[in-house]
Amino acid sequence: LIKKALCSEQAQAPITVKGWVRTRRDSKDFSFLEINDGSCLANIQCIADAGIPGYDDITKMTTGAAIGITGQLVESPGKGQKWEIHATSVELIGEAPADYPLQKKGHTPEFLRSIAHLRPRANLYGATFRMRSRMAQAVHRFFDERDFTYVHTPIITASDCEGAGEMFRVSTLDASKPEAQSYENDFFGKSAYLTVSGQLEGETFATALSNIYTFGPTFRAENSNTTRHASEFWMIEPEMAFCDLEGDMDLAEEFTKYLVDDALQNNEGDLDIFNRFVDKGLIERLQFVSEKPFQRVSYTEAVEILVKSGKKFDYPVEYGVNLQSEHERFLTEEHFQCPTTVYNYPKEVKPFYMRLNDDEKTVTAMDVLVPGIGEIVGGAQREERLDVLKANMAHHQLSEEDYWWYLDLRKYGTCPHAGFGAGFERLLMFVTGMKNIRDVIPFARTPGSCDF
Ligand code: 4AD
Ligand code: MG
Repeated sequence: LIKKALCSEQAQAPITVKGWVRTRRDSKDFSFLEINDGSCLANIQCIADAGIPGYDDITKMTTGAAIGITGQLVESPGKGQKWEIHATSVELIGEAPADYPLQKKGHTPEFLRSIAHLRPRANLYGATFRMRSRMAQAVHRFFDERDFTYVHTPIITASDCEGAGEMFRVSTLDASKPEAQSYENDFFGKSAYLTVSGQLEGETFATALSNIYTFGPTFRAENSNTTRHASEFWMIEPEMAFCDLEGDMDLAEEFTKYLVDDALQNNEGDLDIFNRFVDKGLIERLQFVSEKPFQRVSYTEAVEILVKSGKKFDYPVEYGVNLQSEHERFLTEEHFQCPTTVYNYPKEVKPFYMRLNDDEKTVTAMDVLVPGIGEIVGGAQREERLDVLKANMAHHQLSEEDYWWYLDLRKYGTCPHAGFGAGFERLLMFVTGMKNIRDVIPFARTPGSCDF
């Protein structure tokens, strides 16, 4: 891989690299090629003298063509790079005709979304998806270092964790059924959906194995066209037995900082491209986030701050409303100017499973909000008291029959427990500065986009 060749300690003889041509310049006696294989941001430069084996195909080695180069790694006289290759032979592996869409020039994110199958070849997206991979590894490392057990919660489920009715139905493909057929009970005689969250199933494992997490795809049939909502996104959901809201907020902050630190330390040069082309203050801001404690305020205090600000919001704010993205951004960008954890929300705006506080008005919910995005983490201490949970469920019109297994967790050895869900794409947007969720997931599924 080019990544390996470029950090080689000494010249090697001979070396072969394979990759795709970024640029080629010819003179009478030689060609100068820049090759990239996606293993790192950098290209490797190659000099090929006219007449070496394979040189006859040099005019077909255009931008995007796959080629192989064998030669010697020699010290590069140019700046910025230690090594280049003096080719002893070149091989054309796959041509890229002149209509190759990624010619060397700037492309808009919108255009690149329309060619999602070629997009990872663009530098910025190569960097984004290498970053995504490293962040995923960091997520597992964080929990592994803290003895959390990784649980695979199901993708197909019968329960609507968030109770928002935003689920995609799962049905078997049956060509004999007329279009208008109701797909009720279509999962082999039952109704089934794509999960919106692995939390409820996660709770069953936390009340057995203590500290667990799940990390997988989740789905929301929410028809909202924003830069931070996707129909399919990945969520990280830890769940801890014998843990309260305080411990939950501590973990969410520690987790967010761990990912930020990892991005700062192990990005192998990719962070620079975001800092240069996407968000000039990115690295400085991440360093600040890493060092400074997050702000913590209750929902009641947050609403007071918003009301007192005198700012005109599109969606007026008063006690009892669910905080909108404009409110979240005001708190983090203008008021506190740092990530902020808001806790103890009114019970009316939150799902059935959150623990009722002694004031009987608020529940032990917490959301972590960050500048530029708003909510990246949502969590809570769970209601562990059987009678209170039953009352909450009745209030949300959920049947005890459907949730008998969830109620069992409160019937047998119930204990305080808490957890949260962190949106993986939103975390990625935060550490890369990328502005649209569609640009940090390999194949974005949003209302109206599912081309392949
Ligand atoms: O706040 P949410 O809906 O919380 C839950 O699903 C809980 N059951 C999690 C838990 O406690 N285990 O979602 C959690 C996070 C949000 O903070 C956000 O980062 C992300 O998931 N998220 C989305 N990301 C992208 N597109 C969407 N449509 C999202 N909806 C939520
Ligand atoms: Mg939420």
